[in-house]
Amino acid sequence: MSRKRIVAGNWKMNMTPAETVGFISKLKPLVEDAEADVVVCVPAIDIVTAITATRGTNIMIGAQNMHFEESGAYTGEISPAMLESAGVKFVILGHSERREYNHETDAEINKKAIKAFEHGITPILCCGETLKQRELDLTEDFIRMQIKSALAGVSKIDVQNMIIAYEPIWAIGTGETASSEQAEEVCKTIRKCIEEMYDENTSDAVRILYGGSVNASNAAELFSQPDIDGGLVGGASLKPDFGKIVNA
Ligand code: 13P
Repeated sequence: MSRKRIVAGNWKMNMTPAETVGFISKLKPLVEDAEADVVVCVPAIDIVTAITATRGTNIMIGAQNMHFEESGAYTGEISPAMLESAGVKFVILGHSERREYNHETDAEINKKAIKAFEHGITPILCCGETLKQRELDLTEDFIRMQIKSALAGVSKIDVQNMIIAYEPIWAIGTGETASSEQAEEVCKTIRKCIEEMYDENTSDAVRILYGGSVNASNAAELFSQPDIDGGLVGGASLKPDFGKIVNA
């Protein structure tokens, strides 16, 4: 089975609406012939600007978070219907920074995933171990637990269309990338876990990304691994280098 490659940028809390317009106009020609799907996950305030700026191009826009309720008294939150209506195609769920700083739990991430599918938005579900867990040889158990909790009650058709991003916490923003062997080992485990939970068709279809200090020099090696279908890119997605990573 050949899975279409995908490279997604996660801008985190960077870029104003005005900077978004400027950056997207520079990015467009760099990725217009890309063979991979190209996604940029922008801050909520930039979503409408980014969607307007990418209309008619091959760049798709994602959000970085979403609430699991349809509407209501949740000051500061953004609902799935709001994202859908704005034209958002992807949403990052369960990023380790939100788990850490916003105390997001696996149960909330599961509710968000179910809601995203209801609204036709593809989750980019993040998982990843701490350095301590890796040192204690707990990586595999921990990742399996995160995947199983996040996908409780999610149908196999939905899983076939979703994206999972393996982002070891020790490699995020540190400049320390997992080696391609380390990244492949865990991405393979994730695919095996999906096969056990669903079936081989589903594990063959789900796209699994690596994230954590991906840059223009290491992307090609990481993306050439059999179970790595692309990347989720933080810091390097804020530079024109993102074009090189997409084309890697
Ligand atoms: P860096 O690429 O900056 O390490 O960030 C990775 C990440 O967290 C993407 O979601």
